[in-house]
Amino acid sequence: MKVAIYPGTFDPITYGHIDVIERAREIFDKVIVTVARNTTKRPFFSVDERVRMIKDVLRTYKKVEVSSFNGLLVDFARSKKATAIIRGLRAVSDFEYEFQMALTNRKLDNSITTVFLMPHEKYTYLNSTLVREIALFGGDLSDFVPPIVQKYLAKKVKRLRKK
Ligand code: COA
Repeated sequence: MKVAIYPGTFDPITYGHIDVIERAREIFDKVIVTVARNTTKRPFFSVDERVRMIKDVLRTYKKVEVSSFNGLLVDFARSKKATAIIRGLRAVSDFEYEFQMALTNRKLDNSITTVFLMPHEKYTYLNSTLVREIALFGGDLSDFVPPIVQKYLAKKVKRLRKK
């Protein structure tokens, strides 16, 4: 059984991430999409909200599990018996950061290999920061995130406006 971990902040999950998950499913027997609890980012959604949102979005996907993790990614991967870490490469600008992370993870655990997948070119410019910004200013998000995520974003923005 070939298990892969797809880690990220997913604040929120976008069509670009989903594209990567669909490609990973073709290669691996199980893909564990996992939300990192400890990042330097100040997230819009809590970890539990993001896990719930991803589960809602991927409800019909077979061979996909959703979770969160704390600590080192390689430790989490080992605990799940995963042999691969999936990362999306959108443009050359992703390369340096991803290269550094992949080599560091390999140094930490040589038995886990990072696999880079390229999402469809229509998503190369997309990231979660842009999605949050468009949501805050009430723009159309239909090309970027699924309707479920649009609902989560609308609810969050409404709550923030009340504060
Ligand atoms: N489509 C659209 N957007 C994508 C994308 C895709 N296919 N792939 C990445 N992105 C975007 C994300 O939306 C995110 O955008 P944002 O910065 O505007 O929020 C950005 O690219 C990168 O984010 P993400 O892929 O979520 O990665 P990350 O850099 O936030 O997360 C971790 C990195 C969590 C994997 C890493 O910090 C980690 O492993 N932490 C655990 C601790 C550890 O083990 N550290 C040592 C690692 S070397």
